[in-house]
Amino acid sequence: MTIIGRNDLCWCNSGKKYKKCHLRSDERGETSPPGVVAKTRTPTVLPGGVSPSLTVPREIGRPEYAESGRPTEKKMSCKKSNKDQIERMRHAGRVAREVLDTVLAAVKPGITTDELDKIAHARTIALGAYPSPLNYMGFPKSICTSANEVVVHGIPDGRKLVNGDIINCDITVFAEGMHGDCSETVFVGNVDEDSQKLVRVTWECLMKGIDVVRPGELFNSIGRVIEQHATESGFSVVREFTGHGIGQYFHMAPYIAHFYEPGNKMLIEEGMTFTIEPMINAGSAECLFWNDKWTAVTKDLARSAQFEHTILVTADGAEILTGGREPFFLK
Ligand code: MF3
Ligand code: CO
Ligand code: CO
Repeated sequence: MTIIGRNDLCWCNSGKKYKKCHLRSDERGETSPPGVVAKTRTPTVLPGGVSPSLTVPREIGRPEYAESGRPTEKKMSCKKSNKDQIERMRHAGRVAREVLDTVLAAVKPGITTDELDKIAHARTIALGAYPSPLNYMGFPKSICTSANEVVVHGIPDGRKLVNGDIINCDITVFAEGMHGDCSETVFVGNVDEDSQKLVRVTWECLMKGIDVVRPGELFNSIGRVIEQHATESGFSVVREFTGHGIGQYFHMAPYIAHFYEPGNKMLIEEGMTFTIEPMINAGSAECLFWNDKWTAVTKDLARSAQFEHTILVTADGAEILTGGREPFFLK
């Protein structure tokens, strides 16, 4: 039995003092330091060993931050793509989807997220593309892997997937000068019914968000329908991370909230390319970060799921650039 003092570092890896972090929620019995207090939830994911970053052959085209780690500062908007740019976006979307399908096919109990990263990296390069996360603001790996209570931006490491986990794999590639970005949450072996519902509702949230997209519609309609479906299903919507314009740059204006922003009067326009990527939590919407500054986890350690597509706004709706087969649970 370990006792954590008020001024010790919290057990959750936030790097904060215990009193500034989980002390209160532990006292209420909502969370628990492993092996310290009688509890309802313990972390199922802890930081594991991160292997050296992989490299990309010189002949593959790179985004502007590949060497420096610093993406361009310009808050460029994803507006007004021309025919040629749209064709290259379609290509990037297809490559991202192909890499995602390759990775998801490898998900099974016992495989490490580092192995999933290596599979994705090799497939991306084989398709002549650069894995966009690699060195984006210093991110050390080629994909993001976020299991269970990890909300987003999990760094692939030596942790083995275990039966009953849910895991989101987020793939972004840079191909023909454009980024394509998509993610899916899948089951590892047999998953409890609450988690199955969370994953299904999260996918429905993404599809409902895409369904309202057409020129002349308010951007805030996307968040409105997503938040409504999530909350009606008993879940909450993460507010810290949003969808984003995408194209020549990984993250562009505008941002796309997954919750309702009544004051946001931005209009959707034909030719825009952006992502919708709701993160839906089984418990409270609150997140906190590990010391690695990337991994976001739910504060209450309840599970979180996410799905993402890159879409193009057409004359009368949306074209899903990272589309493919239906998710596994609809079969
Ligand atoms: N793919 C993520 C997104 O959907 C971004 C990952 S940034 C990284 O926007 F650096 F963590 F890779
Ligand atoms: Co993504
Ligand atoms: Co994205």
